[in-house]
Amino acid sequence: MTTPKLSLTGNQPAEVTALAADTLVVGTVQGPNGPVLAPGADAVDAAMDGHLLDVLVTLGATGKADEIVKLPTLGKLAATVVLAAGLGKPAVDGTLSAEQVRRASGAAARALTGVKRAASLLSTIDLGAAVEGTVLGAYRFDQYKSTSNDESVRRVDFVVPEEGTNKDHRGTLKAATAIGEAVTFARDLINTPPNDLYPATFAQRAAAAAEEAGVEVEVLDEKALRKEGYGGVLGVGGGSSRPPRVVRLRYRGSKPKAKVALVGKGITFDTGGISLKPPANMDHMTSDMSGAAAVVATVILAAKLRYPLEVIATVPMAENMPSGSAYRPGDVLTMFGGKTVEVLNTDAEGRLILGDAMVRACQDDPDYLIDTATLTGAQLVALGSRTAGVMGSDEFRDRVAAIARATGEGGWAMPLPDELRGDLDSKLADIANVSGQRWGGMLVAGIFLREFVAEGVQWAHVDVAGPAYNTGAPWGYTTKGGTGVPVRTMAAVLADIAAQG
Ligand code: BES
Ligand code: MN
Ligand code: ZN
Repeated sequence: MTTPKLSLTGNQPAEVTALAADTLVVGTVQGPNGPVLAPGADAVDAAMDGHLLDVLVTLGATGKADEIVKLPTLGKLAATVVLAAGLGKPAVDGTLSAEQVRRASGAAARALTGVKRAASLLSTIDLGAAVEGTVLGAYRFDQYKSTSNDESVRRVDFVVPEEGTNKDHRGTLKAATAIGEAVTFARDLINTPPNDLYPATFAQRAAAAAEEAGVEVEVLDEKALRKEGYGGVLGVGGGSSRPPRVVRLRYRGSKPKAKVALVGKGITFDTGGISLKPPANMDHMTSDMSGAAAVVATVILAAKLRYPLEVIATVPMAENMPSGSAYRPGDVLTMFGGKTVEVLNTDAEGRLILGDAMVRACQDDPDYLIDTATLTGAQLVALGSRTAGVMGSDEFRDRVAAIARATGEGGWAMPLPDELRGDLDSKLADIANVSGQRWGGMLVAGIFLREFVAEGVQWAHVDVAGPAYNTGAPWGYTTKGGTGVPVRTMAAVLADIAAQG
């Protein structure tokens, strides 16, 4: 990850037209009768003798989301190129959402490949969203290429909005940069291939980043896990020559308003184990630690933004491999805390490492518990690749789902129907790790996890099997590979808890 150099610049027309940038980014909006210029573009339009929109229309601009149209300024402005980014349709009241600005800024940043210095006018609509979108859209992961000619934009100047003081703007820039970098940190961890990122190295990277931010770190190695009885993590991790870890990260802000536990699934590679997955697209399972990456990034972000909360992350890390030492279908595992689980399918491993971690997390007596995981293919079947499934305690689940949508990451509340619990009854143990039937797989996984949540803890479970990893083309600020979802959702939930309790 390399974030471009980001700075603020004045919004007076003379300042805009004199901006010493190579490319100026403006917004276009889908109006009822064709595209219109977004707020902030007036100074550029005036410098182009009022012809900016005509030229854009001639070049085929419509203002739709993800549209990029570039035109030369022919000496009318200091910048040599104007890049128009589509924002899509405004709301009925004419306003543009933060997410529209974030996505357009991301699409623009992706199109600024090779540009040394750009300036954005989208920031006059929403500075924070423009900064986040730019950081995320400019993201590249090319450290495994021996040569790379895909240089992302080096520097972006953001024209400040009318409202607010310079101090406000500096604060917004700083917070938005920290949020963007938390997401790109998660993306880096996800995109690192599984031969380099395995439990021990993942734990090291998490610990190093946490220590740098003043977050307390505890790493349980396989010996400590055995001593403390983490049977789920040890069972799942047993097939790999790379032993499992549980990482605990603790940030305590001053005068904390609440205690929040975060748990993320950290399967550094999921082969399915003895219940081996089919070969097609198995490489995507490098992303099976996305929940863990998001949780690690979020607790560090909470420290950087000094949220008045106590946030404790419990992050189980294991590699799910088939081997002579692997756990088997038919095994019974004794989980952390003593519950027993009959393993009927070794590919339902996420819930086993999460169960251990959630019991441990609840021992800290948190007010809230959020767990997130690339848990089920059924999440993709139910909600597609961009909408997380949110389950858990009714009220908190609805709050998290609403916040997920407000951040633009997306999420939808799903039920945990009690009648599904019976399908997990085991002849041998307290519970089985899979049910005997095909339907409602995402909900069944949630029902399983519910068994590991302590009484009185407000709990939300966020299944990001689809949203965590983009296997399609880039769009908006979402690049290929790891997306960093749900870092922004969890950060926004923390901010909401800090504000409301
Ligand atoms: N990591 C997978 C879930 C997954 C699937 C994530 C596709 C991202 C994309 C998980 O460990 C898994 O294998 N789940 C099984 C559960 C089943 C055996 C009950 C699944 O969804 O098929
Ligand atoms: Mn699996
Ligand atoms: Zn998995």
